[in-house]
Amino acid sequence: MQATLTEPQLRAPLKLQLSHARGRTDELFRLVRPDALYERPAPERHRLIFYLGHVEAFDWNLIGRHALDRPSFHADFDRLFAFGIDPDASGLPQDRSDEWPSVEEVSRYNRRARERIDALIEEAPAEMAHVAIEHRLMHAETLSYLLHDLPASAKTRPAVSVAPSGPPPETRYCEIPPGIATLGQPRESGFGWDNEFDETKIKTPGFSVGRYKVTNGEYLRFVGDGGPTPHFWKPEGGEWKLRTMFGVIPLPLNWPAYVTHVQASAYAAWAGKSLPTEAQYHRAAYGTPDGPERAFPWGAEAPDPSRGNFDFHAWDPLPVDAHPAGDSAFGASQMLGNGWEWTRDSFRPLPGFRPFDFYPGYSAPFFDEDHFVLKGASARTASKLLRRSFRNWFRKEYRHAYAGFRCVE
Ligand code: AVJ
Ligand code: FE
Repeated sequence: MQATLTEPQLRAPLKLQLSHARGRTDELFRLVRPDALYERPAPERHRLIFYLGHVEAFDWNLIGRHALDRPSFHADFDRLFAFGIDPDASGLPQDRSDEWPSVEEVSRYNRRARERIDALIEEAPAEMAHVAIEHRLMHAETLSYLLHDLPASAKTRPAVSVAPSGPPPETRYCEIPPGIATLGQPRESGFGWDNEFDETKIKTPGFSVGRYKVTNGEYLRFVGDGGPTPHFWKPEGGEWKLRTMFGVIPLPLNWPAYVTHVQASAYAAWAGKSLPTEAQYHRAAYGTPDGPERAFPWGAEAPDPSRGNFDFHAWDPLPVDAHPAGDSAFGASQMLGNGWEWTRDSFRPLPGFRPFDFYPGYSAPFFDEDHFVLKGASARTASKLLRRSFRNWFRKEYRHAYAGFRCVE
């Protein structure tokens, strides 16, 4: 599709997409009371004030400074807010809140950066505009994780409760015949991050996969047997509650259990099963009985809200059997949306990997056998990121992600 568009047609929508993406991050920062911007909701990540400057400095450093070589208007902030998603793997960050600039200073920097980028983006290579847009959209998701953990008193939106939910559906398995799983994408096919290249075909033997993601109800039995407690669960009055984005509700037994990779693997071992490999996820989600693989689990049609819980329509998960119109050819539900899914595979380069020269630190530092691949999407994943080749990753103990799992046998 994209290849048939002329250059100016390609550019105009990108500028518009960047403006929509800014709306997503702006909406998140408006949810935080200004003094709470100096909080650090996840001990291993930055204070929120860093991200307020980071999403703008990233765009300016990439497009204004690197691509088009324009002069800095605030070199200190260009550096302070550059890169740095994981402050430092070796220890927890020790910076104090009073070492950071004021919200007013950061906002002024942000306004100036946006003005300049708006005037320049038409001149930047399209690949860099995609990087800026998708980088911001990813932060719109990871920032939601961080805001999730702020106390209600730090948020500008009143606490809400979510409709009660029913029992989990019966555990069922889908048979996946042997076939080819295609990971990554060919270089000429459109935008992708460095870790999505080259296209890689993997011969995958037959297996069976959970029709649904593992539910809180199922995981609860593991907890009853001594299994580790999910981060979003909270004991209250002798019962399990779930901390949602804006409230605390009785644990919905038919919602996906959001857990770490360590917890997901422990559950799978306890159940006598295992987590899918990245190739098995692709087979279950995109494979067909005999034809070529699909672009989306449900077929070739572009994502829309009838196909799954993604693209910011909801703040929280839905029951694991919601959106049957999103089922894969083999009947697997919610392979895209309602929570990322951990795979058994550590995050590694595909054969032919080359880091972006303008952003060498995007993927390569995380090929360390401590980070694992996640596939799919959550309620807070932008539809722009729903391409088959997109790969996500977190540390195996990372507890803040909207990430669940399903098992294979
Ligand atoms: C791809 C989601 C793992 O936030 O940790 C943002 C994306 N990289 N800024 C992250 C990212 C640099 C990254 N993930
Ligand atoms: Fe970033």
